[in-house]
Amino acid sequence: MANSINEKFHTKITLLSLYLLLFPLVANSYNPDYNLAINCGFSTNTTALDSRIWVGDNIDNSNLFTFIEPKTTNPSLKSSPNSLSNIDIPLTTARISLSNFTYSFSSITNTPVFISLHFYPTSYQNFDPSNALFSVKVNNNLTLLKNFSPYYEKEKITKEYCIQIKPNEKLSITFIPNNINHSNPYYAFINGIEIVSMPSFLYYTDLNDPKYLLKSLDFDNTEYQIHNDKALEMVYRVNVGQNQVPPNQDTGMFRNWDSDFPLYLEKEYPQSVSTVYGSDHPNYLNNTIPNYTAPEAVYFTARSYGMDVTEDYNVTWNFKVDSSFTYMVRLHFCEFDLLIKNKGDRVFQIFINDILAEQYADVIYWSGGNMIPVHKDYAVKMYSQNGSSEIERVNLSIKLQREPESIYTNYRDVIMNGIEIFKISDKNNLAGLNPIKHIIPSSPNRRSKSKKSPIVMFALVGLSCLLLAFIMGVIVFLRRRRFESQFEMKESHWKINNEGSSILPSHLCRCFTIVEIRAATNNFEDIFIIGVGGFGNVYKGYIDGLIPVAIKRRKLGSRQGLNEFMNEIELLSQLRHIHLVSLIGYCNEDAEMILVYDFMEHGTLREHLYGSDNEPLRWNQRLNILLCAARGLHYLHEGAKHNIIHRDVKSTNILLDEKWVAKVSDFGLSKVGPTGISMTHVSTMVKGSIGYLDPECYLRNKLTLKSDVYSFGVVLLEVLCARPPLDHSLDKEKVNMVALFKKCYNEGVIVEEMVDPFIKDSITSECLKCYCEMVLSCLHGDGNQRMSMSDVVGTLELALKLVMSGEDGKFDATQKGGSKAIG
Ligand SMILES: *[C@@H]1O[C@H](CO)[C@@H](O)[C@H](O)[C@H]1NC(C)=O
Ligand SMILES: *[C@@H]1O[C@H](CO)[C@@H](O)[C@H](O)[C@H]1NC(C)=O
Ligand SMILES: *[C@@H]1O[C@H](CO)[C@@H](O)[C@H](O)[C@H]1NC(C)=O
Repeated sequence: MANSINEKFHTKITLLSLYLLLFPLVANSYNPDYNLAINCGFSTNTTALDSRIWVGDNIDNSNLFTFIEPKTTNPSLKSSPNSLSNIDIPLTTARISLSNFTYSFSSITNTPVFISLHFYPTSYQNFDPSNALFSVKVNNNLTLLKNFSPYYEKEKITKEYCIQIKPNEKLSITFIPNNINHSNPYYAFINGIEIVSMPSFLYYTDLNDPKYLLKSLDFDNTEYQIHNDKALEMVYRVNVGQNQVPPNQDTGMFRNWDSDFPLYLEKEYPQSVSTVYGSDHPNYLNNTIPNYTAPEAVYFTARSYGMDVTEDYNVTWNFKVDSSFTYMVRLHFCEFDLLIKNKGDRVFQIFINDILAEQYADVIYWSGGNMIPVHKDYAVKMYSQNGSSEIERVNLSIKLQREPESIYTNYRDVIMNGIEIFKISDKNNLAGLNPIKHIIPSSPNRRSKSKKSPIVMFALVGLSCLLLAFIMGVIVFLRRRRFESQFEMKESHWKINNEGSSILPSHLCRCFTIVEIRAATNNFEDIFIIGVGGFGNVYKGYIDGLIPVAIKRRKLGSRQGLNEFMNEIELLSQLRHIHLVSLIGYCNEDAEMILVYDFMEHGTLREHLYGSDNEPLRWNQRLNILLCAARGLHYLHEGAKHNIIHRDVKSTNILLDEKWVAKVSDFGLSKVGPTGISMTHVSTMVKGSIGYLDPECYLRNKLTLKSDVYSFGVVLLEVLCARPPLDHSLDKEKVNMVALFKKCYNEGVIVEEMVDPFIKDSITSECLKCYCEMVLSCLHGDGNQRMSMSDVVGTLELALKLVMSGEDGKFDATQKGGSKAIG
């Protein structure tokens, strides 16, 4: 009893600390000198959900600002929206008037400021929303909005500007209703105003900085400068790759960073990649850019092409903008993939508005290294379709293309982390067309269909994900404690550690309800079973009725495998690589422990080697599959933040998708590898599969990254010979494939005898030699003598090249040196 109370108490504490961890009270990297938020039409000062204080405009705040309106028959009034649904301060009240009204601010700093105007277009009292039509001017000079009629949009509208006023000048913002004669006159309204100072040269050009270049993409390709007399309107600010970053998680300037999908990214095609942020931080030591430029969450999530995509396409974002203006496009980059370290590792091309902006974009070259953020700025003038000076809505596209020539780059891939687009004022005007409702692009692509749910749904899913992440976090934490004695590896400092940073990355995977899972599998009907694993069944299902997925369901009531289950969620949801099977989501309602993965159309590698009716794979196909799998493992070993030992590499854990791209699956047994120098191996209970086990591992209980290399060596041999590692139907001396191979090799016996007859003719002796040497190295009894996964990747690349060039004599046992090819 006491115990359970204790545990409840403990849960609470954990929840609290998890909360603190989820919303860490990090010091902002920028503290604005001037920071004022006005809740228009409200009488008192209030604190919004994001903990910001909003001052009312109805009380005497004259030390902060003054509210000015002419003495007319139609004084302004304050009102609440007629329907209040799902809105927070400052949208819950508005200032409305049929006459001009002005907010005037003195003692503004000398730095530029953000001005944000918040509008909630709906009906107020007996004001018809369609009669809201007005202009907004700054200091009676700069026009921010003209004939503005926000009522097309049901959602809230926020307009954000950057301006710099002259020293000692006051700032005034005036709202001017259109005074066209009308039986039902026009009015102006405003719900919230924010003024926040910003660093002098965050967006304005520092004329004293010789390194800064705002590249003009006009015909002459000269330099462009944004001087203090210009005003900017932020039209798009996007966190590429993953979630929205809300104002309270900005670097201190309350900027909002939208999610790039589904509104702007053309299709969901490109990979979204992220690093595990929280413990690591971007490196600003080299002073490339100030640390307040963009939040960590922007730099640590990105989109890339997928390193082994065969079809060439542009990763494209589309933004609707007003023609006749020049725009500043800022692209944010940060190379966090630890495999990309040097200049020339990932070089790609950038097109803005279909103009080649960068022919050799190289983030490492720009920033100076991995984890160092950098941005590139471009000025592009947008013209109307037919060249008229009328303002039209036109498309500003940003496209990333792989470097066409692989001699310029090690990886043919692209990366981008964030986008900001600013409209630059022209003759003291920023006003363009009225906003239109965002239309979420429809696409015949079935994958994107499921994501077509409205933004609200996204928000809800996000929220519930967050909530579930909490619960899961708590569960993980508690289970860890409860099962601590069963833990073979107490040294594990991967993610969950004594500092207690155990949080499932809710931004990386979706949470399913048990209802959704039951619908997907027709209530776990047997005919949907596609596999039976150690911890339960695997079902094929369709989520949202369309997308095929693999659903792994833990046996009800079985405790066995719980650690594996938790391990897998934690690991998979943070590891994204084209050659790792993607975790789509999970479900842990009703005591169920369910994982949802990408469905892999072509099943396991083994099914295509032996024991099935499948057509045998060609040699180059096999090499390609092995190369993909090797890259996946290489990523686990070296690309991720911690070295991860897979521990169960085998041909049934290499899966093939509909395009025959191989992906490594089943991280249930994965463990984090040693990180400290003193710890060169992890003591562990023997796990893994018979026939693939590293002898060092079961003889000496020593598990290292090289244990995976051994198992991969077994797979390499399995692929070459198309037979299982242990085949008891064979003569005694042939049962063990590895032993047989080593015996043949040592005795100089013809190894070709072992090669799968289907591929014999397509292997050149050179290729076989290279391959067998790799296999031998992988299967070396001493782990230290084995090659690394990175060497395996290199060797397979070479072997594949040999096959592609294919000029060398075909394999032939009679050929001179053929039988000694591997000797
Ligand atoms: C409102 O402001 C506009 C622009 O500054 C001005 O032209 C107009 O005369 C003003 N109206 C009144 C009634 O003051
Ligand atoms: C308003 O419009 C009516 C009819 O269109 C016209 O008779 C009247 O003179 C107008 N008033 C003003 C002030 O323009
Ligand atoms: C990518 O876009 C650029 C600019 O529009 C174009 O020249 C190029 O052909 C496109 N590449 C592909 C693969 O579509």
